[in-house]
Amino acid sequence: MKKILITGALGQIGSELTMALREKYGQNQVIATDIREADSPVVTEGPFEVLDVTDYNAMYELTEKHEVDTIMHLAALLSAKAENNPKFAWDLNMGGLVNALEVARELNLKFFTPSSIGAFGPTTPKIKTPQDTVQRPTTMYGVNKVSGELLCDYYYYRFGVDTRGVRFPGLISYVTEPGGGTTDYAVEIYYEALKNKKYSSFIAEGTYMDMMYMPDAIQAIIQLMEADGDKLEHRNAFNVTAISAAPEDFAKAIQKHIPDFELTYEVDPVRQSIAESWPDSIDSDCAKREWGFEPEYDIDKMTANMLEKLREKLGL
Ligand code: SER
Repeated sequence: MKKILITGALGQIGSELTMALREKYGQNQVIATDIREADSPVVTEGPFEVLDVTDYNAMYELTEKHEVDTIMHLAALLSAKAENNPKFAWDLNMGGLVNALEVARELNLKFFTPSSIGAFGPTTPKIKTPQDTVQRPTTMYGVNKVSGELLCDYYYYRFGVDTRGVRFPGLISYVTEPGGGTTDYAVEIYYEALKNKKYSSFIAEGTYMDMMYMPDAIQAIIQLMEADGDKLEHRNAFNVTAISAAPEDFAKAIQKHIPDFELTYEVDPVRQSIAESWPDSIDSDCAKREWGFEPEYDIDKMTANMLEKLREKLGL
């Protein structure tokens, strides 16, 4: 992995992954792309190109022009947005993915794309969800993610494309807000705790989902991409997680720093039913065994860091 093209580079993962990869592999070695430009170091501090991932020819030309050896495909719609616009989600999530895989096949590139806990459904075992298990998701996002996992495996077995990926849980970060996901409450709660000392959660009390702090997610991507391919038994869709939590667990962790923080609930039925169809806690032993995944942040360590960094960001 020496020269990398990233799609969706201004998104929640991309905006931090781009900077981390530039730091590690060199400023000019990471070509960031997104459907729009923005006032962001991703655009101003290194190579950046506007790219619509549904345009195969544009993706091919850009990738060839920059002579990259790796493509990291992040451009996608998250779960709640996909549920509001299923046809568009299919076109973007699946169209973008198959284009990126085709480019990787044609140009012989290494490939990364994230799957998600959304790839599981109500009939999946909820606790310690195994790596290989029932996957019958009931959301468009989940249908896209399972199809994507299968497609990545297919490109590896059929064409030898070095595809790799993880199933991310809800990702929490202070840099870029997610937008349109079911786990977004776990980011919003920190902003609101600092600004107003209270938060009204759209996810109900007692609803557990997996979560992870962004530095652990970035580290996981780099570690998996650098792992010896011969040692990988699974290639795509490794379960990774660091935290299994419900809204009240975030409130308790925040109250250690902001004692008068108050959590209330105003449940959104769409996102609540998505959350209920997902696991409570997935098992990441396989990722630990095959490539040494080891997250650093539990909920308390993450909360301390998140509040400190957000305070600086918001000038509080
Ligand atoms: N955070 C994502 C979502 O809620 C899960 O992959 O859509």
